[in-house]
Amino acid sequence: SGGFRRRACGRSVCNADLAACLREVRQSRAFGVPWLLEKENKELFVNIRLRAEIRLANPSTPLIAGAFVSTVSIEDIRDVRPGHMTEGMEKYAKDVPEHRCFSIIFKDQRKNLDLIASSEDDANHWIAGLKKIIAKNNSMSQRQKLQHWIHACLRKADKNKDNKMSFKELKSFLKEVNIQMDDSYAKQIFQQCDKSKTETLEDEEIETFYKMLTERAEIDGIFAKYSSAEGIMSRDNLLRFLREKQQEEDALPESALSLIERYEPNETAKKQQIMTKDGFLMYLLSAEGNIFNSSHSKVYQDMTQPLSHYLVSSSHNTYLMEDQIRGPSSTEAYIRALTKGCRCVELDCWDGPNSEPVIYHGYTLTSKILFSDAIKAIKNYAFKTSPYPVIISLENHCSLEQQKMMAQHMKTILGDMLLVMPVDGNTSDFPSPEQLKGKILVKGKKLNSLEDTIGMNGNSSIEAEDVSDEDEAAEMEDESVKKESAKLKLAKELSDIVIYCKSVHFQGFDNTTSPRAFYEMSSFTESKAQKLAQESGTSFIHHNIRHLSRVYPAGWRTDSSNYNPVDLWNVGCQIIALNFQTPGPEMDVYQGRFQDNGFSGYVLKPRFLRDKQSKFNPKSITEGAWWMRKKLQIKIISGQQLPKVNKSKNSIVDPRVTVEIHGVQRDNGKKQTKVIENNGFNPKWDEEFGFDIDVPELALVRFVVEDFDVSTKNDFIGQYTIPFTCLKQGYRHIHLLTKNGDPYPSAMLFVHINILDNN
Ligand SMILES: *[C@@H]1O[C@H](CO)[C@@H](O)[C@H](O)[C@H]1NC(C)=O
Ligand SMILES: *[C@@H]1O[C@H](CO)[C@@H](O)[C@H](O)[C@H]1NC(C)=O
Ligand SMILES: *[C@@H]1O[C@H](CO)[C@@H](O)[C@H](O)[C@H]1NC(C)=O
Ligand SMILES: *[C@@H]1O[C@H](CO)[C@@H](O)[C@H](O)[C@H]1NC(C)=O
Ligand SMILES: *[C@@H]1O[C@H](CO)[C@@H](O)[C@H](O)[C@H]1NC(C)=O
Ligand SMILES: *[C@@H]1O[C@H](CO)[C@@H](O)[C@H](O)[C@H]1NC(C)=O
Ligand SMILES: *[C@@H]1O[C@H](CO)[C@@H](O)[C@H](O)[C@H]1NC(C)=O
Repeated sequence: SGGFRRRACGRSVCNADLAACLREVRQSRAFGVPWLLEKENKELFVNIRLRAEIRLANPSTPLIAGAFVSTVSIEDIRDVRPGHMTEGMEKYAKDVPEHRCFSIIFKDQRKNLDLIASSEDDANHWIAGLKKIIAKNNSMSQRQKLQHWIHACLRKADKNKDNKMSFKELKSFLKEVNIQMDDSYAKQIFQQCDKSKTETLEDEEIETFYKMLTERAEIDGIFAKYSSAEGIMSRDNLLRFLREKQQEEDALPESALSLIERYEPNETAKKQQIMTKDGFLMYLLSAEGNIFNSSHSKVYQDMTQPLSHYLVSSSHNTYLMEDQIRGPSSTEAYIRALTKGCRCVELDCWDGPNSEPVIYHGYTLTSKILFSDAIKAIKNYAFKTSPYPVIISLENHCSLEQQKMMAQHMKTILGDMLLVMPVDGNTSDFPSPEQLKGKILVKGKKLNSLEDTIGMNGNSSIEAEDVSDEDEAAEMEDESVKKESAKLKLAKELSDIVIYCKSVHFQGFDNTTSPRAFYEMSSFTESKAQKLAQESGTSFIHHNIRHLSRVYPAGWRTDSSNYNPVDLWNVGCQIIALNFQTPGPEMDVYQGRFQDNGFSGYVLKPRFLRDKQSKFNPKSITEGAWWMRKKLQIKIISGQQLPKVNKSKNSIVDPRVTVEIHGVQRDNGKKQTKVIENNGFNPKWDEEFGFDIDVPELALVRFVVEDFDVSTKNDFIGQYTIPFTCLKQGYRHIHLLTKNGDPYPSAMLFVHINILDNN
């Protein structure tokens, strides 16, 4: 009932007819092959249709006259945000009551869709409904996701929408799910399933077809070895499988029973405490069957060590959505980075009009946002993904006046979150992430010492003083900028809220005669940091036990490309700032690293990077605590439901898997399977690789699936990166991630992992 209608600023009008939307929703829900689904999941197959006259509140979208209908797939929705919580709303809907507003946030880089309902009730219906669908979707089992995916493909293939499948539609379906089958074989299957001889498949016939299609012969083989002739696996056999094959030596009879209880779909079998083939498959598709050790999906590391003992997920020039020269700046970029677990965000601050500091990439054409808006976004999203501290890294180019404004904004907007005093008055070492939970720290220039700030020296007379800003100037790589920023005066108000992260120019590693205060930290370009890592790895490691180090991308990376973080983690650098908006292997490895420890944005460094006596040098590895030689054996068995990523290509996927090791130099490696032609649905490789890994605590394993192409560059399909220490052995599924790091609904690899001591 009711509709979206609005007229704002004489500029944009939005009229999305809710009633029509709901009708659409109902109609599309009625469609389909419902036997595939459990009832409560039906609504997952709905695409939301928005009928709107005008896309609201998007300044860069030209006004469109007349109505248009836009279809939004729920798969693409990341979140629904009530109220004025996007830049568009802030800008264009200020005069509309908040409770009628909501925004749809997408997973890809697409702009938010800002909507206004005609009443609070309507808005609430939409928000609650969408949230429910999203939540349900996120709790779907692997089987449901597979069904969902197949169902979506079936629906696409059912051209005349009669819920039946003709042979022609079957062929188009096979193409949709990425299987190339020759016509005679496809015809054979079709006739096998078409028991009613109607030349179309309907109801159970489609189900039979679906079952034939989703058979997993490789899993049947494994199941057969641990099951009786009747095709059932007893609890004790399951236990034997867990211990022998999955290398879970401490598995107990109760663990096996619990798997039966959770994954066995046949109630009779469940009561008899046995597992059928279906249940076994369900287990292998579940979190327990995943390659990632689920104990590591929670915070499991010691969080009470000094801050400098952790790697910190960090983003570079966080405000930028695209490149470093012309692209837009947005507060949305802060939300995206924080949602991806980032714990250190950057703000490039410049004088703005009306005494309000703004954020943009100085001397470029990037657009500007208000400093205060960025701080608000940070406040709202800082602790949604992780409770551990967030560092605001300031690049300050402002006048004294506006610096005072910055300090004031941070104090008033962040309130108690802002750390303005050392924890417990301790000025001798960093507090821990645990002690800093829920706190926001400011990194920037500081006039004096921490002791001065808290009045221990009875000296707080300085109001402002020249500070050099060489790091930031170096980032611009421009002499005139260097001169200008060298003259910058720093306001006491801003200086005083810098507690544990005082930026200083790097003047060599500490020596015993004049050690630097622990809270002094330096920033390095990637090349400078690489050079130090190469030339004096061990000293750098010692430096990073006591001090934080930040590394940022080279100035020439104007396209926002990234550098490899691994070599810098290997020498204990904590804050490796990457361009979070740029997908690619570097971000894959980055997010792989921080998937550990509950995706909290903090990962404890291995002991040999925290030990002051450590002689570890990643460049020339000698024996020591880090030396735990392993042989990693990986068998790539099969793939499931690999999507066709390049829509412009008319062919079926020809998948190939690459396994990469990223660690210390000597451990790095890369091996590839052969190409399977014309099968993205259930390709089988059965290829085994071995890697020697000498420093496992620093190694990550990356699995990449590509669509091989003889004539052009291979298309990326999906990838998954996992720290070596998070690997589980045995038969495991790998759930692939998209280019942007989001999980695919059902694209997987099935592998076998074996780890041996290598002496
Ligand atoms: C469930 O399991 C029991 C015991 O193994 C078996 O007899 C029965 O056929 C199974 N039911 C279904 C629907 O598979
Ligand atoms: C400060 O913290 C460090 C590390 O937690 C601790 O060893 C030291 O005793 C503390 N000093 C004071 C004065 O509390
Ligand atoms: C107070 O600050 C001034 C200016 O920085 C400095 O010269 C002086 O040594 C400081 N006094 C104390 C007691 O730290
Ligand atoms: C120790 O460090 C200080 C300041 O960085 C420097 O002036 C001095 O030369 C260094 N001493 C040695 C022995 O390296
Ligand atoms: C898709 O494939 C075509 C033809 O091979 C190629 O030219 C194009 O660059 C590919 N697009 C993407 C996004 O990879
Ligand atoms: C998973 O990780 C935990 C904690 O590190 C460890 O105790 C356990 O043995 C691991 N499980 C497997 C199956 O590797
Ligand atoms: C539903 O789950 C699938 C797979 O996890 C994901 O790709 C999709 O984006 C999700 N949809 C929503 C609305 O969260």
